[in-house]
Amino acid sequence: MIKKTDTSLKNALAALNAGELIGLPTETVYGLGANALDDQAVAKIYALKKRPHFNPLIAHFASWEQAQHYVHFNPWAHELAAAFWPGPLTLILPQKENVGFSKLATAGLKTLACRVPAHKHAQKILENIDFPLVAPSANPSESISPTTAAHVQGAFPDLCVVDGGPCTVGLESTIVDLTGEAPVVLRPGSVSTGEIEAVLGCALGEHNGSKIIAPGQLKRHYAPRIPVILKAQKVRDTEALLSFGQHSLSGGMKEINLSPTGDLQEAAANLFAALHDLDSLRYSAIAMTPIPNEGIGVAINDRLKRASSK
Ligand code: TXA
Ligand code: MG
Repeated sequence: MIKKTDTSLKNALAALNAGELIGLPTETVYGLGANALDDQAVAKIYALKKRPHFNPLIAHFASWEQAQHYVHFNPWAHELAAAFWPGPLTLILPQKENVGFSKLATAGLKTLACRVPAHKHAQKILENIDFPLVAPSANPSESISPTTAAHVQGAFPDLCVVDGGPCTVGLESTIVDLTGEAPVVLRPGSVSTGEIEAVLGCALGEHNGSKIIAPGQLKRHYAPRIPVILKAQKVRDTEALLSFGQHSLSGGMKEINLSPTGDLQEAAANLFAALHDLDSLRYSAIAMTPIPNEGIGVAINDRLKRASSK
C-alpha cells in the first residue's frame, strides 16, 4: 500500500494504476477514487466506506468526449454539459453496453451518473490515466463529507490523499436525472434548479422521493455523532451554536458562524468543516439558526435536514 505521506500526483497515479484507492480533491468535496473499469478496485471503495452495495457511484471523466464513450447523450445533456462542465453538476444518463464499466459501481442500474470535475488536481489526475474514476465522497457512509485533505486522512489514515486545499464549493454536486420525460433534480447542489431551467428553457419535473432513485439520498446522512437541532429557539449551556448571518441567539459552549455577512456561497463552503469541528461529545447538541431556502441555501438545508435526521 502507498503510504499516506506520499501525497504527490505521481504516487496517486501509481496507486490508481495498481488498482488502489486514492483521496482526491474536487471543487465540491474530496472523493475516494478508484479505476471505474476494475471491479476489484471498486470493491475496495465499498469496503472502506462501509457503503451499501445498492448505492451506485458517480463516474468522473476528464472530458465530455470521454463521458460519451460510456453513456448516450441526449439534447439536454449536451446543453447542460456545455453550460456547466467542468463543474459541480452530475448528469444521470443511459449507459452504453459492453464498454467495460464496473457493474459493481452502478449497482446493476442501466443508468450512469457522470461528472467532469473542475478542480485542477482532479483534472490532472483524470488526464493522466487511461480510465474514468468512480469517486464517492471520501467519508465513511452516513458521516460528514470531507472538504479538506485532513478530513480524509482523519477518516482513512492509510490512504494516499492528494492535498488540493479546502474545497471551494463545499457541497456535493447537483445531480440531475436526464433519463425520464422531464429532467429531475435528485440532489440539490450549487448549480440551482433555476440555473438548470434557464439553460434548458423548460421546467424541471418533480422528484418523487418515495422511489429513492438516487439511492444515496437516504434520510440520515452527513450526520455528526451528536444531535443537530434545526431552527433552534435557544441555545443550552452544554450545546454548540452553528449560525448564519446576524442573529439574536447567544449562549452555548462555542459558536461557529458559517457567514457573518450572510453570504450563502461562503456558508456552503464552510458547512462540512464546521460540522466536523463541532462533531464532538464535548457538546450535547448542535443548535442551528435558520438558513434562507434560496439558491445554494436549498442544498445547505437539504444536507442539514439529513444531518438532523435520527
Ligand atoms: O460532488 C460530488 O458529486 C462528489 C465528488 C467526490 O465528486 N461525489 C459524491 O458521491 O457525492 P457520493 O457517492 O457521495 O454520492 C453519489 C450520489 C448517491 O446519492 C448515489 O445514490 C447517486 O449519486 N447515484 C449514483 N449513480 C446513480 C444513478 N445511476 N442514478 C441515480 N442516482 C445515482
Ligand atoms: Mg457521499
